[in-house]
Amino acid sequence: MMDTRFELIDRCTTFNELLHDMELILNKEHLFYGHGTGNAMDESMAILMYLSESNDVLDEEQLKTSISDQVQEKAKEVLYQRVTESKPLPYITNEAYFCGKKFYVDERVLIPRSPIAELINNRFEPWLNPNSINRVLEIGTGSGCIALSIAEAFSDIEVVATDISPDAIDVARLNTKAHGLEQQVEIIESDLFENVSGLFDLIITNPPYVPDKIMLDLPKEYLHEPHMALAAGEKGLDFISRILHDAPPFLTDNGIVIIEAGVASENMEKGFNMPFIWIDFEIGGEGVALIEASHLKFD
Ligand SMILES: C[S@@+](CC[C@H](N)C(=O)[O-])C[C@H]1O[C@@H](n2cnc3c(N)ncnc32)[C@H](O)[C@@H]1O
Repeated sequence: MMDTRFELIDRCTTFNELLHDMELILNKEHLFYGHGTGNAMDESMAILMYLSESNDVLDEEQLKTSISDQVQEKAKEVLYQRVTESKPLPYITNEAYFCGKKFYVDERVLIPRSPIAELINNRFEPWLNPNSINRVLEIGTGSGCIALSIAEAFSDIEVVATDISPDAIDVARLNTKAHGLEQQVEIIESDLFENVSGLFDLIITNPPYVPDKIMLDLPKEYLHEPHMALAAGEKGLDFISRILHDAPPFLTDNGIVIIEAGVASENMEKGFNMPFIWIDFEIGGEGVALIEASHLKFD
């Protein structure tokens, strides 16, 4: 199975050597990073975390630990799939991190990477008063990472999460159970708001938003992700437009919509005559807007 590109791994005796040799191997390949890691070094550390069953980056002492033949073999298997199939690492390891927590993922769901994580880590401050949030709806939950992280950050609120994909619903429910949040988070199969009822203080969504033209040029890694999690018509606004139109009856008077528009941000700003507030992120990321219920008006 193995090709000679991975032979370097056979000389590694410690995690530290493995880390550096994996980085060397990955850097020689034409790979796209952006599914949870930003470069070959980050990705090599993520592989080490998987191989050593650690939820955190390995520290200096851990890096000095000797590795077994099985670890070497497993590392080569991971690299083989990553390099020959351009498969994003989380689909090989079946794990992704979001808001510091581990989520199960496979090719039925988008790999968690939304900048919305930073908002959740900050309990939405300074944009929202955390005490004003009692009920949250997430549209298009995928793995469930956003809905479940919100539930973990606000232990006394109710969270409802929808997805149209039965496959995604299965994964989101699996993660809900794994995080022990079945009492707090309801996962509903629904076309946007179709099967949703009641009012929400916050509607949050990272919907599909990739315009048709950009879909044609995506790096190979994206082709492993569900098409329906990405593709959003000519301007990338197919879902954003429906969500903005349909949200008002589901919002409390002081309700807020937070919507990720990513590469479709400019089209969204131009396409709707509404006072969107574009959120600044410290850690990185952009293309997330906030709009108050009272401003969600169509001409
Ligand atoms: C960009 S992914 C976001 C997944 C997850 N929230 C995250 O941030 O990782 C968009 C999600 O919207 C779902 N979706 C697509 N069309 C939908 C629709 N009409 N109603 C509800 N969900 C939909 C997809 O199945 C996918 O899981």
